[in-house]
Amino acid sequence: MGQLTLISRTGTHQLPVETDVTIVSIAKRHKLGWGYACERGICAQCRTLVQEGADCLNEVTKEEKLRLRKAERAEGYRLGCQIQIVRQGRVTLAHRPY
Ligand code: FES
Repeated sequence: MGQLTLISRTGTHQLPVETDVTIVSIAKRHKLGWGYACERGICAQCRTLVQEGADCLNEVTKEEKLRLRKAERAEGYRLGCQIQIVRQGRVTLAHRPY
């Protein structure tokens, strides 16, 4: 079993892990105040810091490679509209817009 922790401006939220759905979709459904606009990897309003569980996530998408600087990606930043959990585990993500 896994556990998903989402840290947004509305607080820290513990949720069951859901696979193959984006973090923005999960956050919207639970009304967590996770910024987003395009959901296509362009606006970066959903910028997210992966604090734990990077190995449980999908590969970085080409949209993220285009939108985020290499240094940001190296620090663990991704885009919430691109992240999907692909295997069970402990995952902690923080919404960190610019
Ligand atoms: S919602 Fe626009 S980049 Fe994620």
